[in-house]
Amino acid sequence: MRTASIILAAGQGTRMHSKLPKVLHLVAGKPMLWYAIQAVRALVDLPPAIVVGYQAEAVQSAINEDALFVLQEQQLGTGHAVKCARSALEGRADTLLVTFADMPLLRSESLARLVRMHQESGSPVTMTSFIGDEARGFGRVVRDAAGKVTAIVEQAVATPEQLKIREYNVSAYCFDAEWLWGALDQVPVSPKGEYYLTDVVGMAVEQGYPVESMILEDASEGVGLNNRVHLATVEKLMRARINEKWMLAGVTLVDPDATYIEVEVMIGKDTVIQPNTHLRGKSTIGEDCEIGPDTTVIDSVVGSHVRLVASVLEGAQVHDHVTMGPYCHLRKGAVLQEGVHLGNFGEVKDSVLGPGTKMGHFSYIGNATIGENVNIGAGTITCNYDGETKHPTEIGDDVFIGSDTMLVAPVKVGDRSKTGAGSVVTRDVPQDTLVMGVPAKEKRKLEKSD
Ligand code: UD1
Ligand code: CA
Repeated sequence: MRTASIILAAGQGTRMHSKLPKVLHLVAGKPMLWYAIQAVRALVDLPPAIVVGYQAEAVQSAINEDALFVLQEQQLGTGHAVKCARSALEGRADTLLVTFADMPLLRSESLARLVRMHQESGSPVTMTSFIGDEARGFGRVVRDAAGKVTAIVEQAVATPEQLKIREYNVSAYCFDAEWLWGALDQVPVSPKGEYYLTDVVGMAVEQGYPVESMILEDASEGVGLNNRVHLATVEKLMRARINEKWMLAGVTLVDPDATYIEVEVMIGKDTVIQPNTHLRGKSTIGEDCEIGPDTTVIDSVVGSHVRLVASVLEGAQVHDHVTMGPYCHLRKGAVLQEGVHLGNFGEVKDSVLGPGTKMGHFSYIGNATIGENVNIGAGTITCNYDGETKHPTEIGDDVFIGSDTMLVAPVKVGDRSKTGAGSVVTRDVPQDTLVMGVPAKEKRKLEKSD
């Protein structure tokens, strides 16, 4: 038995009032379509077929996953959309899992339960529903006196009696593939000119098949996302889910309601996250760290035993035992090696600071390579940009950079050398040398005792 999946993602999402296709709107840092792909991944034998239409190219290029993209040129409804995947899948699988891209909270475990239920049912269709209090445009699940599913009725065409039904259609189905392709050919056009996938449920019942519905235990999984109010609701639920996962895995969140962790972030045990911390993108945080308050880490790697306060890291690497902040900014290519200390108001970009180096107060380091145990005095600046190009600065080990030193790049300062306060260093400084002044000149050679 081979299982394939179809994910519908061709709609514009008119109710989002957006230039961006609905399925590319982000939830916890990833497009909602990404969640739909993750949810089916473990259950299928082929890459999922994704039906795209509105801004098809934008959707396709935003999703960097193994998938089969199928074009629905005109959005003629969910039934028509599934039909568009026919030529790509026919004969390649006998079971089809069909989901929509606008339900990022639907769990893979629930879809696995749907597939099992379908395999045991002997029916060509198994659907998913949930019991709720908020209709929000959901199709209603109609059952007969004996409680058997007889049809799904869309809200727009439901009778007042049917509108009172509190069992809603989620839009996650498992089908016998051959049966579905045949049934889709018989779906009638709706008064709105669309072909509804939901109609195949009533067709199966008319053909004498029993249709079962897998009722979600956690109703929040069924939340479909149609407008930006739903987007905010889903974001909040997803955040709570991610936060709970990390707390159960050994991470302390001092205030989960004020902690924002995106879905691909990794965090080690016994790390404490203080409030108003945002961990974003593909960031990794080690063990025994204290992060925040008021800290944002984006696409960065942070080691263990690190302390970050009120700082922003973007595309940076921070090794073990680093302390940083408040008010530091690490930009792309910043590497702080073991035990580096950054005090307040430090900015580092495209630079390596060697083990044990200290930069206590308001400095800018760009395009620099700095050795071990260097002391960077208050107000030090690498003048790396001449208005046209960026130039490198190289500083050796055990160097002392005096307060307010301007390092006019390209420039090198050798091991164990020192610069006096206020120096403007325009020429390379050899090892074991004290320079000072504007422009900085050699004052004397340094002895071990200096
Ligand atoms: C659909 C269901 C409804 C269910 C609800 C759950 C139908 C007719 N209705 O309604 O029973 O309660 O989902 O959220 O199926 N799409 C296409 N091509 C199209 C039309 C839609 O790919 O031609 C895609 C959209 O991109 C979207 C999904 O299908 O991902 C659902 O479309 P949407 O218009 O949101 O359907 P609902 O009105 O919510
Ligand atoms: Ca929807």
